[in-house]
Amino acid sequence: MTSDALSKGSPWPLPSGEPVLRLEAVRKTYGSAVVLRDVALEVPAHSVTALIGASGSGKSTLLRCANLLEDVDDGAIFLDGEEITDPRIDQDAVRRRIGVVFQAYNLFPHMTVLDNITLAPRRVHKVPRDRAETEARELLDRLGLAGRAGEYPDRLSGGQQQRVAIARAVATRPRLLLLDEVTAALDPELVGEVLAVIRDLKDEGMTMVIATHEMAFARDVADQVCFLDAGVILERGTADRVFGAPAEQRTRDFLSRLTEAGRL
Ligand SMILES: Nc1ncnc2c1ncn2[C@@H]1O[C@H](COP(=O)(O)OP(=O)(O)OP(=O)(O)O)[C@@H](O)[C@H]1O
Ligand SMILES: [Mg+2]
Repeated sequence: MTSDALSKGSPWPLPSGEPVLRLEAVRKTYGSAVVLRDVALEVPAHSVTALIGASGSGKSTLLRCANLLEDVDDGAIFLDGEEITDPRIDQDAVRRRIGVVFQAYNLFPHMTVLDNITLAPRRVHKVPRDRAETEARELLDRLGLAGRAGEYPDRLSGGQQQRVAIARAVATRPRLLLLDEVTAALDPELVGEVLAVIRDLKDEGMTMVIATHEMAFARDVADQVCFLDAGVILERGTADRVFGAPAEQRTRDFLSRLTEAGRL
């Protein structure tokens, strides 16, 4: 991808050797249920990590902990080497460095596409309106949404809305982008356009953690695949290794169920 809004001003600093995100022995419980158990994870700069696993295995919870939407019960999480689970941390400042997109796009319905995208850059990051809008239009161009800036979300298709949600998340030039089942609510014919946008972000060097049921996409885009089973990262490796030669029986079972269902 050529020069564009996102590459101006060095949005993603060069890797320092320190992983962008690191989880150490993270434990998360809801009441008596242990939802994440001894989870360790390293996400290097400019890499894509896919979280796969059955429903309820803890993928969303892991992402919510990484974004400080949930407190962890034990262990620690680091962003660029800084412990963000330290109670003295400024949580809002941490969240400003992390972009998040969930399954339901959650665009502000009373705001135009342009205002949805420029809200955080202007209000939170104090980017002047002119610059925020110029950059937002460039971003929309790149995401195939040129000419949609003045539209309200309910006039867009699900795939278009989800692309606006991704534009909104990257408009603040986050250090890390967390994507949780961003295609799950979309009609099949709209999934591809959203996945293409994510692939472009990868090509530009965006560091991402993606919870997904789109196995073909995970295999294609992920540098690292983690298979979660009942709150444990049971297996991790390159996409080719985890999909091609899973070491754990439970991973094999999970993948063969998907294959039988025609989803792999
Ligand atoms: N706020 C909550 N209160 C209590 N239990 C919760 C809460 N959020 C999640 N859980 C439980 O934690 C477990 C992990 O849920 P999580 O949403 O992380 O799974 P998931 O892997 O993202 O599943 P899916 O593929 O369906 O999105 C589940 O058993 C779920 O019921
Ligand atoms: Mg989930």
